[in-house]
Amino acid sequence: MSRPVLRTELCDRLGIEYPVVLAGMGPVAGSGEPVATAPIAAAVSEAGGLGVIGGVGYAPEALRAEIRKLRSLTDKPFGVDLLLSSNFLAVRAERPTLAQPAPAEDPIPAESRAAVRKIAEDLGVPWVPAPERAPTDLGSWVPEGQSWAGAQMQVVLEERVPVFASGLGSPAPFSDALRENGATILSLVGNVRAAKRVGAAADYIVAQGTEAGGHTGRIGTLALLPQVMDAVAPVPVLAAGGIASGRALAAALAAGAVGGWCGTAFLVSDEANQPDLQKSRIVEAGAEDTVVTRLYSGKTMRNITNPLIEAWEASGLRALPMGLQGLLVRDLLHSVEQAGRHDLLMNAAGQTSGMLGARRPAREILEEMVAEAAEIIAKGLASRVEARV
Ligand SMILES: Cc1cc2nc3c(=O)[nH]c(=O)nc-3n(C[C@H](O)[C@H](O)[C@H](O)COP(=O)(O)O)c2cc1C
Repeated sequence: MSRPVLRTELCDRLGIEYPVVLAGMGPVAGSGEPVATAPIAAAVSEAGGLGVIGGVGYAPEALRAEIRKLRSLTDKPFGVDLLLSSNFLAVRAERPTLAQPAPAEDPIPAESRAAVRKIAEDLGVPWVPAPERAPTDLGSWVPEGQSWAGAQMQVVLEERVPVFASGLGSPAPFSDALRENGATILSLVGNVRAAKRVGAAADYIVAQGTEAGGHTGRIGTLALLPQVMDAVAPVPVLAAGGIASGRALAAALAAGAVGGWCGTAFLVSDEANQPDLQKSRIVEAGAEDTVVTRLYSGKTMRNITNPLIEAWEASGLRALPMGLQGLLVRDLLHSVEQAGRHDLLMNAAGQTSGMLGARRPAREILEEMVAEAAEIIAKGLASRVEARV
């Protein structure tokens, strides 16, 4: 059987067959490990889309190793996604890392610490403080005067990664260097203000609607996409959030997007680096089983709901800024793991969880999505919609 054709200018620019990009999903799935590692990125690239490594949690040399592993699995184009929000861009001298002396005062309010302990107690989770991080752990490797994201970016540049995606913040500080290196730049935004701020610092804007899994905004994809397109024209735009079927992909392309950036659809793929339990929870979830919470990171993040999220939301506590919130809940999440309370584990996923009925190879997920979208655009629309201009 011949392969369906579904092409946009994104395909020509990136050298890929289909306008489908694997979202660069980082370590927010409870295991502490990134979801989008080399095997799934390679599978998506091999199938004709663009695989993207979720790079945010990798120390620079580990990121380099993952990029090289991906290159050993495919010679197709691929990308790396990093977060460029202010906490990841803060240079080490300003940023409290474990390699620096602990601040004299606990930056976390005592009442927040007490409230989090009370939540654990109410859920019957014995309190087990997380072990101190080893000196080789997060942050300590960032050289003086450099930031976490800056040190990672150096690797992205040295390894001549063909596509860079920024998940939070603007790629502007690195745009010149990336472009000089021949890389194409994508930048995720969840609202029009952010889109205008990024503007031409990216080659493509990814308009991510609230349906999305992981960090997400408040505006639905279909409402956001045309507004972002208008705000950043002539910069082309991809759609994200809620695209897990050929029908949704066709809708996004019909609305003017040049491609789909898809996370949740691939969370249940065989190659996704997620524990089985979390894949099963997504397969079993209904459309209304996700909720947005600041519990885990301080920023709004969509997850399959669980009693821990419900208790946090009911507590009325205000989340701390990104970075500090992670410190606040570190012991709580460690306690949950130690107690074997898998029902309370974080499980970032989007609203399309309700339509994902089985685990499958990534290639199958992508091919089905593309075939359905191509069918709708080539035949389905004309047979159901009468239109003339
Ligand atoms: C488990 C998970 C982890 C994610 N991690 C990141 C990340 O590290 N960087 C990023 O830019 N986006 C991240 N996202 C958001 C995705 O990039 C993407 O925008 C979103 O999944 C698209 O919506 P969808 O889930 O409806 O397909 C993550 C999403 C999920 C579900």
